[in-house]
Amino acid sequence: MRIVPRAETQGKVSGRVLYRLNCSGCHREDMGGSPPEFPALVGIGKKMTAAQVVETTRKGVGRMPGFAQLGDAALESITAYIMSGTEIAAESAAPQNSPMNLKYAFDGYNKFLDPDGYPAVAPPWGTLWAIDLDKGEIKWQIPFGEFPELVAKGIKNTGSENYGGPVVTAGGVLFSGATNHDRKFRVFDKLTGKMLWETLLPAAGNATPAVYEWQGRQCVVIACGGGKSGAASGGKYVAFALPAYVK
Ligand code: HEC
Repeated sequence: MRIVPRAETQGKVSGRVLYRLNCSGCHREDMGGSPPEFPALVGIGKKMTAAQVVETTRKGVGRMPGFAQLGDAALESITAYIMSGTEIAAESAAPQNSPMNLKYAFDGYNKFLDPDGYPAVAPPWGTLWAIDLDKGEIKWQIPFGEFPELVAKGIKNTGSENYGGPVVTAGGVLFSGATNHDRKFRVFDKLTGKMLWETLLPAAGNATPAVYEWQGRQCVVIACGGGKSGAASGGKYVAFALPAYVK
């Protein structure tokens, strides 16, 4: 992350400057966003009318805060800039000493990648940790996730970006999907971090699994949505059950 100087905001400024001040931190200066967390606003006119953009921006949506404090003139000026690049000068109604008017601004989530698109830092690029909360001690830590194309070249255990929590059963078995690129669902011994089983999901399981009982059998289910960091999207829930108990 880095900071960049903010533009001067006294008096009337263009929609581009208002956009840069209020929106570029998440949607980026070039409106490319950082999908999927922060959507791109390029071509937003194909999806929303100007009135809808103004309303969405005023009220906020999902993880985006509302910007009612900017006032109608500024919201309309920003919307015109986003939708057509038109520069209409407007004054922000937000107080000049508001936190939105600091000297420096955050310029968005920039990933530090090497020329091949992998993290430009030494692996592991993602880890799974077990922490003893009673003692505050790290019990174990392992690289978590792989890139299938690197594994094919013999480069294993790099770890990768991962989104999704683990679930631990009373018997000490830990289930987790989470890893963005290898689509794996893994089972570990919670005491040692030893992997007990793994399988391939239809898309990355970027979700926390749920364990439950069904007809006397223990089951675990995970949502396979994928779609993060350029990975393929999916739309399936996959459930697994322990084999039926035979007397
Ligand atoms: C703190 C980060 C953040 C800032 C600042 C921010 N946005 Fe957003 N914006 C988001 C996120 C996250 C979403 C997606 C919300 C969702 O659908 O859950 C979004 C969605 C939108 C959408 C809907 C896009 C779509 O494809 O549905 C519009 C339009 C939009 N923002 C405009 C703006 C404008 C204009 C500003 C500046 C006044 C702004 N945003 C500032 C985070 C931000």
